[in-house]
Amino acid sequence: MVSRISLLAAMVASAVAASAVAAPRWVRLAVPAETPESAEVISWNTDGTPDANTVEYGIAQNALDKSASGKSFTAKGKLGIVHEVTLTGLQPDTKYFYRVGGAGDWSSVRSFRTAPKAGCGPVKFIASGDHRSDDSAGPNPKWASILGEMHASGAQFIIETGDLVKDGDDINQWYNHMEMAQAKSGEIALMPSFGNHDTDNVKGATAAYNQIWSLPHNDAANNEDFYCFSYGHAVFCALSTATHNDAAGLAMQAKWLDKELTKHADKTWKFVFFHHPVHTSYIDLKFLDLNHPPNEVKQNEHFVPVFDKHHVDVVFAGHNHFYERFAPMKGGAPVGSPKDGTVYITTGGAGAFTYDEIDVLGFKIEPMKVICAEGILGMSGKAKGSQVCSGKHHFIEVDLNGGEFKAIVRSTAAQNFGTADKNKGVIETVTLSKAFAAPQNCGTSGSGGDAGATDAGSTADAGTADAGSAPDASTSDLQVADATAPDTAAAPDTASALDAPTAPDTATTPDTATTPDTATTPDTATAPDTATAPDAALAPDVATGQDADAVAADADTAAGTQPDTKTGGTVQDLSGGNLGPLDAGGGTSTGTATSKPAGGDSGCSGRRGVSNTGWFAALVLAGWIARRRVSA
Ligand SMILES: [Fe+2]
Repeated sequence: MVSRISLLAAMVASAVAASAVAAPRWVRLAVPAETPESAEVISWNTDGTPDANTVEYGIAQNALDKSASGKSFTAKGKLGIVHEVTLTGLQPDTKYFYRVGGAGDWSSVRSFRTAPKAGCGPVKFIASGDHRSDDSAGPNPKWASILGEMHASGAQFIIETGDLVKDGDDINQWYNHMEMAQAKSGEIALMPSFGNHDTDNVKGATAAYNQIWSLPHNDAANNEDFYCFSYGHAVFCALSTATHNDAAGLAMQAKWLDKELTKHADKTWKFVFFHHPVHTSYIDLKFLDLNHPPNEVKQNEHFVPVFDKHHVDVVFAGHNHFYERFAPMKGGAPVGSPKDGTVYITTGGAGAFTYDEIDVLGFKIEPMKVICAEGILGMSGKAKGSQVCSGKHHFIEVDLNGGEFKAIVRSTAAQNFGTADKNKGVIETVTLSKAFAAPQNCGTSGSGGDAGATDAGSTADAGTADAGSAPDASTSDLQVADATAPDTAAAPDTASALDAPTAPDTATTPDTATTPDTATTPDTATAPDTATAPDAALAPDVATGQDADAVAADADTAAGTQPDTKTGGTVQDLSGGNLGPLDAGGGTSTGTATSKPAGGDSGCSGRRGVSNTGWFAALVLAGWIARRRVSA
């Protein structure tokens, strides 16, 4: 009898265990290659028998009245079974609820929103990079918090510039990554590019990276290592500088990219993202690199001509753990306008230790001052065309609204030495504008669902109905602002206000109506950029004829004394002072008050140079970097 009871107990325990491990986990989204207005890719993992590949979905949370099935395959080690289902026939710009699994093992109900028809509505996405850990945990412990902020923005997807884990050949790290992300991964799609830390020494379908994410396919290498996808009136292309990164592989990708961008020539906005930066400020001490150099895998000669040929609007990279934005570049040199070149941005601050201020033996060491400053004790790290740098953990929130691109670079609550809401802020806001003609067949706007998590962070701009408004093409087409709103919830409107002088269509841009100084604001295209842009990156500024240093000083003074007319209060300049010439000008014109934390200017301008730490600081910094440099 005892043995029968034991056997029965063992059977029950086994059944319970089998049921538990078969439950769906790590539910996640991906954007399909071409039809995000009518399709969504959903993946999840299970252990055990792969007998349930079903998604139930609908536009009401309590009425999942449709279902779809997909495929499954056995992935590496403890990744278990990967399930992939592509929903099709969806309505554009519509919120859907769904659950995954089957046979009694269902996930909780999650939601996503389909893309608008091309040009028929705004698009919000996040750009970020390097959320790997500094040890062998996989994702950085900060990643959950940072991902939560990204999700709260209401963005539909994230483009990631690579290095999601520390060691891609360690399945435990990918496991940890998915565990940490699963609270949000089912509601905001992650579209990664291959970082050097992500590889497990194989390419294509056998790589853990590719087994986890259900990415679009390329027809050049016949894998998912690099890919393009359309979203609304934009195209996004991820390249791999971690695989296929020898001369032949890079040439292959360049040829493929040329074909893809030709195919998507009708898109208003073109973005490319990958890991190793084309342009970056960089300190080479001969015996030690303080950070990663530009063109590290020799990709530029292959990629840049294609970017220039197709006039890619923005190229995002990572690898260096900071934020840096360049003036529009073409052929490796700054040009006067984004009409003529591509804006390059490094965004490598979503988790791994960043180059923010540190305290060493009582000395404040600001790595960004050294890396992005000019002529400091013989060291000059600032790259030609570099405009703004920040060592803060951050991500970039981008709104595409017709012919306007607005990027709000947000510092996150999680920073190197702690997590607190007071760390949230705006490093800068960048606005690009171009002519845009709305399509005629947009029909009615999207629908579905309530204002759930996916909608929580929607900005006022995102809800405007004037996505198709044709801007005045004669207006300035690149503006930046040191939008220093301290709170992410309030930041979008504040940033819009600061951008008001550059809004392409004031008649249809609600924020402009509240901007008091539009009429008197000088064209920020002629802001005192000469202070830190001696390379004529913004040629029109030279016309001001002012002494560069004097202009900078004036701007600093003005920025520090003007009342904050937008918010009615003091706001924090998270850049640590001046973010650069355009920001100084923006602060002057908009009357934004800034309170500068101790440490002063940590922008790229280098107007003040390294403060008082000198060579000792540099050597301590070198030692610090040497310890932190764990990248291959
Ligand atoms: Fe890297």
